[in-house]
Amino acid sequence: MKRLAALILAAGKSTRMKSSRSKVLHNISGHPVISYPIETARAIKANDIVVVRGADQSDLKDYLNRAGVAQAVQKDALGTAHAVQSAERTLAHFEGQVLILCGDVPLVRAETLRSFLAEMNRTRATLGVLTMEPNEPGSYGRIVRDLDGRIVRIIEARDASDEERNIREVNSGIICAESGWLFKSLRKIKNDNAKSEYYLTDLVGIALNEGESVAAYVGRPAEELMGINTRVDLARAAELMRERINKDHALDGAGIVDYRHTYIDYGVRIGQDSTVMPFSFLLGSTRIGRDCVIENGVVLRDAVVGDGVHIKAHSVIEESRIADGAIVGPFARVRPGSKIGRAARVGNFVELKKCEMKEGAKANHLTYLGDTTVGARTNVGCGTITCNYDGFSKYKTIIGDEVFIGSDTQLVAPVRVGRGAVIGAGSTITKDVPSDALALSRVEQANVQGWAAKYRKQNSKSKTLNPKQIRNSKS
Ligand code: UD1
Ligand code: CA
Repeated sequence: MKRLAALILAAGKSTRMKSSRSKVLHNISGHPVISYPIETARAIKANDIVVVRGADQSDLKDYLNRAGVAQAVQKDALGTAHAVQSAERTLAHFEGQVLILCGDVPLVRAETLRSFLAEMNRTRATLGVLTMEPNEPGSYGRIVRDLDGRIVRIIEARDASDEERNIREVNSGIICAESGWLFKSLRKIKNDNAKSEYYLTDLVGIALNEGESVAAYVGRPAEELMGINTRVDLARAAELMRERINKDHALDGAGIVDYRHTYIDYGVRIGQDSTVMPFSFLLGSTRIGRDCVIENGVVLRDAVVGDGVHIKAHSVIEESRIADGAIVGPFARVRPGSKIGRAARVGNFVELKKCEMKEGAKANHLTYLGDTTVGARTNVGCGTITCNYDGFSKYKTIIGDEVFIGSDTQLVAPVRVGRGAVIGAGSTITKDVPSDALALSRVEQANVQGWAAKYRKQNSKSKTLNPKQIRNSKS
């Protein structure tokens, strides 16, 4: 097999994005736009991958450094040919085919690139152009072919005649050439055109003049080759990526109820027979096991979910682990550092933060548990609150196995509740509770006989009328 280098162009002004951020760092399905062509270059096993960036794109520089991707710097954005030239030194050691990809074309699939390269190799082409036939050729470069259907040149929309502008086949921007010929020929390109730029597309004319063979391969569907120039394009590309990801999950055995309105980041994993309902967001490094139900409006960010877990509507779970068979929500908030054990239950309006709920533990209603361990099979009553913060530091609450915590309890941390203890409803617990003890902290109840009736009578005479009185006064 021939050696292959992928050169990903990402310099240029991208003024149409109206953004202070580099265009290719905008987000699609949880990752920067440029991560997709990088990933695709890896998928086709490019021997070298180099990104061309602008000198002033420090955000892109940082990203590429973090991602460990080689970069070449284009000092001034003088056009696509000039951009490729900027990488000549970086690729000096390389001999083989240079596949030029665009940093702003994220949807192109490895399969399409492989077919394109196969066509080039079949026709022994020195230069290849990946073309497309979008419904609207817009500002793309037009592919001019002769009567035999052979490519003659590429004319940029701005430089095209009205007749040429009617051509539907356009340049996707993805071009491939033999390295030696490529860098030699780039020097012949001039900038006598509407934008006064050095156009990479001029390579077609140069190759044909020299009797080299040029392949033009139509990639389908055209949408896969769309470039992102504006935020409208970005939203459209994100929509297409979303559908692609969702359909992939569906083909792998997950039930995606509505593949248009389910937001799953690239790289999230979902086990077989798990169902994801609409308007859920499965983000970051989230992993979901088998036979789970993720109801509508759930947000999972960097969450690890076991098998047979049911996450009910509108729950938000971040950087936490949920073990097999647990039931969470609706309206639960699980904040970073939490662990929900096997078959544990976290109900509505329950907030957990750095909280471990062991196997079978329950907190079903209106509760805050922060910096807390809840033992196995322990029941946390409605309205329980751990007071873990004194305005300066955070403190821990440790609750043993099989404890019963009555409703409306405050646990003032640091505090421990021993195994099997019972806490009476409405208690404020400030001291450790021994195992199997009953803890109660509330004033004794006083009943004043007949007080309420007297109170009502007094008030109804002076102020309010009861319904019967109202009726009587009308007639
Ligand atoms: C280019 C093509 C056009 C094609 C279109 C597809 C040329 C002359 N035109 O036009 O035929 O239909 O792409 O999207 O090649 N870039 C640099 N440095 C520069 C200029 C551009 O790195 O100086 C990069 C951009 O980041 C981008 C790619 O090259 O990734 C294309 O640049 P862009 O300005 O979008 O080119 P178009 O005018 O759209
Ligand atoms: Ca109270």
